[in-house]
Amino acid sequence: MSVIVFANSKGGVGKSTSAVLLAQVLAHRGATVSLIDADPNQPLSAWWSRDPRRIPDNLKLIPKVTEDTITEIIDDEASKSAFVIVDLEGSANLAVTYAIGRADLVLIPMQGSQLDADQTKRVIDLICREERAFRRSIPYSVFFTRTSAAIRSRDLGHIQADLKEALIPTLPVELTERAAFRAIMQLGGTIYDLTKDEVSKPKAAIENAEAFAREVALITRNQTNKGRVAA
Ligand SMILES: Nc1ncnc2c1ncn2[C@@H]1O[C@H](COP(=O)(O)OP(=O)(O)OP(=O)(O)O)[C@@H](O)[C@H]1O
Ligand SMILES: [Mg+2]
Repeated sequence: MSVIVFANSKGGVGKSTSAVLLAQVLAHRGATVSLIDADPNQPLSAWWSRDPRRIPDNLKLIPKVTEDTITEIIDDEASKSAFVIVDLEGSANLAVTYAIGRADLVLIPMQGSQLDADQTKRVIDLICREERAFRRSIPYSVFFTRTSAAIRSRDLGHIQADLKEALIPTLPVELTERAAFRAIMQLGGTIYDLTKDEVSKPKAAIENAEAFAREVALITRNQTNKGRVAA
């Protein structure tokens, strides 16, 4: 099992969308996945209820998870599923702290603005504090969302260079701005059901989401192997 937590106190950076995409691809590849909706606005539950028939049986949703229940639910799901994916509210609260405390990997989505970079630094600071508190390392990685090949801002280039210089792990795959990714949250179901009538380029969206999931799975697999060697 791997507990993957999406966190960024900045709202609207793409936490819920990325969490849903990752869960869909992993489930499509046959893994058991538990999606934990720990945002009081319940975006994952809204996505789920739009078209539950189009969601594979090996992808399970746990709605209405609060700071009182999150630790127990993560542990419980981790004993049952290969991947536990946690979506959090875009603010700093106790549920965020507890989820990071249980994470095998924290993924921090961000866009290419300085404001995003500042919020990302806050999440990394929180992870470092929790590492000290729990005396364990908490792997994390930043990744870029909603990027566009057409509009690559100068800010984005600077921010990527800064992250590299600060040795902050960054995924080599971005989740680009795509109508298909927006459509999933609006229509429900998975990217594998989208037709050309519903969105343009569904195939490119699938390839992008799969490349993202491959990178994430690679990190979690390497960690598991490291854990085995250390044991
Ligand atoms: N890669 C993407 N391509 C296109 N649209 C996207 C992408 N990622 C997110 N969006 C859109 O951006 C908006 C915010 O995304 P999302 O809800 O995933 O962000 P969030 O970080 O979970 O927000 P919150 O902090 O409010 O929970 C949504 O309208 C979503 O459809
Ligand atoms: Mg969200």
